[in-house]
Amino acid sequence: MKISRQKVDSKSQADSRSQVDSRSQVDSKSQIKTECALKKEFIHKSVLVDEIIKIAQVAFLGVKNPFMVDCTLGLGGHTLKFLQTFENLKVYGIDKDLEVKPIIQKRLSKYSNRFNFIHTDFSNLKIVKKKADFILMDLGISSMQIDNAQRGFSYMENASLDMRMDLSQSISAAKIINEYSYADLKEIFLLNGERNASRVAENIIKYREKSPIKTTEQLVKIADISIPRNSRSGHRAKKIFQALRIVVNNELDNLKTALIQASELLNPGGVLAVIDYHSLEARIVKQFFRKLSSPAILLNLPKLPAGAQPEFELLPTVSPTEKEILANPRSASAHLRCIRKIKNAKNLVSKNGLISQKKAAGL
Ligand SMILES: C[S@@+](CC[C@H](N)C(=O)[O-])C[C@H]1O[C@@H](n2cnc3c(N)ncnc32)[C@H](O)[C@@H]1O
Repeated sequence: MKISRQKVDSKSQADSRSQVDSRSQVDSKSQIKTECALKKEFIHKSVLVDEIIKIAQVAFLGVKNPFMVDCTLGLGGHTLKFLQTFENLKVYGIDKDLEVKPIIQKRLSKYSNRFNFIHTDFSNLKIVKKKADFILMDLGISSMQIDNAQRGFSYMENASLDMRMDLSQSISAAKIINEYSYADLKEIFLLNGERNASRVAENIIKYREKSPIKTTEQLVKIADISIPRNSRSGHRAKKIFQALRIVVNNELDNLKTALIQASELLNPGGVLAVIDYHSLEARIVKQFFRKLSSPAILLNLPKLPAGAQPEFELLPTVSPTEKEILANPRSASAHLRCIRKIKNAKNLVSKNGLISQKKAAGL
């Protein structure tokens, strides 16, 4: 199995798209959970906020009524800071997890005239028709999703093996663990750097022959017997859980699609900012940004044709300070990577009769 093909039920993915704030998936149980999240004072600490705002200040220079898309709204920490800082800014906030909606409605209520929530996957970004001056992707899951044991993202608490960001999607972690072949399971864990991938996959197959694997606790037990103490870095189940989460939510393919759409949605001078947290995400973002900002590499030329310039410029990567990491350990692996669409960039590449940057990038 190619992970890029990820056997994620394509119907359920498609079903979940284009549902702009339409379906009510929030049942009474999740309303209680929302109340708990509200009481916990929005436990998700947003990462690299000041650094992102500084970059946006430059992107919004001279723009009278800036517009941005927050592709990973979560609990709205970044969006809130943007709305507070830029008084003419309008924001569309996207999230595939409908459970954020009531929290957002409350947290951003003061800004309802400048903010719209869109329930969709960010790989469906093309539904936004207005060009943006800033696009933000803060990848992965929020602390609220991890801390809500019932969502099944955490190896620290027993719950059903779920891990869906979008609860209307039919594929869950349990389905993958109980139905995928040995080879597919092994590939999933290997890709995420689990050195004992074959043993984990083997033990999953043995275990499920006796009874279905339904809970996070059962999977942690399998990690216990599969991963020798001396080859553990961090919690023994960490890489297994992360690998599964990535596949359940089709995270890598969705990111690739969204990056392409985001680069097309930017106004000249606009910035696409991505915070990644692990090497699989980082590789995709770095490769894509490098391609868009380096036509010489794209065209396989030793030297650019005279006057030609890339359509995008790469900004320096930003990492959290020690102070931020101490205050928010989750930020430790974060990297903020940005590209800016160059104002008045001449796409001389295509004028010269050579292939366009986008074609060359395989977009
Ligand atoms: C790290 S949290 C964002 C936190 C947010 N920046 C804040 O400051 O509160 C990531 C959020 O993005 C959402 N998400 C992840 N992948 C997504 C995708 N492909 N499409 C839409 N939402 C996604 C998750 O459901 C989660 O709520």
